[in-house]
Amino acid sequence: MKIFLDTANLDQIKKYNDLGLVDGITTNPTLLSKENADPQEVMAEIVRTVKGPVSLEVLSTNYEGMMEEGRTLAKYGKNVVVKIPMIAEGMKAVKQLSGEGIKTNVTLVFSPNQGLLAAKAGASYVSPFIGRLDDLGEIGMDVIRDLVQILKNYDYPAEILVASVRHPLHVIEAAKLGAHVVTLPPDVLGKMITHPLTDIGLARFLDDWKKAKQSHPKITLTR
Ligand code: G3P
Repeated sequence: MKIFLDTANLDQIKKYNDLGLVDGITTNPTLLSKENADPQEVMAEIVRTVKGPVSLEVLSTNYEGMMEEGRTLAKYGKNVVVKIPMIAEGMKAVKQLSGEGIKTNVTLVFSPNQGLLAAKAGASYVSPFIGRLDDLGEIGMDVIRDLVQILKNYDYPAEILVASVRHPLHVIEAAKLGAHVVTLPPDVLGKMITHPLTDIGLARFLDDWKKAKQSHPKITLTR
């Protein structure tokens, strides 16, 4: 399963990218608005920092505007994926952009039908927002389950990018269903790494090694 970071925060991106845990980045206007910097410069820096796909979102809601923005965003780098909202004109833009060799990520997907149409239009990634469905008392993961099956049935090359992930359990459920990608807020990735028993176990190992060294002062693992 690929792990993307869902953030525009360069410190967090660099931190997890350096650990080798980041396969790509997703941004959106809300995430960019949280950074105290020029959004265009932030987007350009993210594209330079991360080798994998970086989703940058258009703000237009009509076909011509989305095309113009999409082509401009694609020039930031070869790894740019243009994020297009799941609206009727968006589908036309997805088809055209993918025909021009520009990868697209259809965002704000909330139903299996929307996901099916995005995949049919030629999206590289289809992004259902599961946390926001959960917030409404619906089961966001059901959309992932349905889409995994639908895309498999028809061999669509689109990858399911599970978005609006709120906690590590979402990741486990998405992985069990075979979703291709999860995009995670940095704190969720942080929570996946740690476990209190790991910390306790490590402290015990180090302590026991110290005791062993006291009895055998010459032992060493390094020169
Ligand atoms: O990936 C989409 C994400 O940024 C939206 O998350 O938590 O605002 O629903 P959230």
